[in-house]
Amino acid sequence: MAGRSTELMKSALRPVVGERGWRALRRARRRLAGPAPAPAPAQAGLRDEPHPDDSHKMSRHRFLTELHEKLKPRTYLETGVSTGLSLALSRCRSIGIDPAFAITSEIRCDVALYREGSDDFFARPDPTAHFGGDPIDLAFIDGMHLFEYALRDFMNIERHAAAHSVIVVDDMLPRSVAEAARDRVTRMWTGDVFRLIPVLEKYRPDLVCRPVDTRPTGVLVVFGADPTSTVLWDHYDDIVRAYVRPDPQPVPAEILRRSHAVEPTALLAHGVWADLVAMRDAGGPERAALAAATATLPAK
Ligand SMILES: C[S@@+](CC[C@H](N)C(=O)[O-])C[C@H]1O[C@@H](n2cnc3c(N)ncnc32)[C@H](O)[C@@H]1O
Repeated sequence: MAGRSTELMKSALRPVVGERGWRALRRARRRLAGPAPAPAPAQAGLRDEPHPDDSHKMSRHRFLTELHEKLKPRTYLETGVSTGLSLALSRCRSIGIDPAFAITSEIRCDVALYREGSDDFFARPDPTAHFGGDPIDLAFIDGMHLFEYALRDFMNIERHAAAHSVIVVDDMLPRSVAEAARDRVTRMWTGDVFRLIPVLEKYRPDLVCRPVDTRPTGVLVVFGADPTSTVLWDHYDDIVRAYVRPDPQPVPAEILRRSHAVEPTALLAHGVWADLVAMRDAGGPERAALAAATATLPAK
């Protein structure tokens, strides 16, 4: 647009002011406009990938808002705080972990913030002391976008969770191979955290997982956390050896097409959330009750 309006002005003004006059006018216009803005340092050199319009889809923050409303968690933990957009949705005792947060959103909860990587946080003697002995009711994993980091975040969070807990992992449905690169090249970046889906399917069939078609890059919702499970810890090295791949990432077609992802509205409309709250308030679900509550969850 700017180029076209310059052309129009040039054809109108140059015959009147001449070539030298036109160049003087352009110099004056550039002086008034000031220097061109420099790219934000964190985004310098990163490109925008073209993606189909997804504005009709529910955003991950809207989805999280509804989860907070339905679950009324007593405790919320997130890895990856950044400017606080997701933390701002919490109204309960919360923990936020990020080595480089710069919060600009209004936070309306009793929050303990940790300016460190999540591995350091979970290495503390009593990392969830802020919760006074309560487990993590709702968690959002959105820290470092590399598979092994997301896996460790999941393993650490599960240790401090309970059977009624809900663990949400962001960026599980990359829209392109470039977006899924371990070595970041795009402004919107998922990295290879989507590999958590096949890993949980293979090693933790006891968990109930649902990929959800949220905007922009999908989430995974995990039900049935078992803080006593050591399976992922026992196989961690083998898993990382088998699932960390060099770029370009071979992203499965079902991830790119989201053919296994459920509609956020369908999942939110299910009775499982009320069941989880009732089980939690009754002192914790039995495995059989949890299995019954999740048996009819929408799936594709
Ligand atoms: C996508 S942003 C989080 C966005 C936020 N959850 C939201 O929805 O508004 C990812 C954040 O993860 C943080 N991060 C990077 N490595 C991390 C780590 N090891 N542990 C926790 N956070 C990390 C980054 O500093 C960055 O602010």
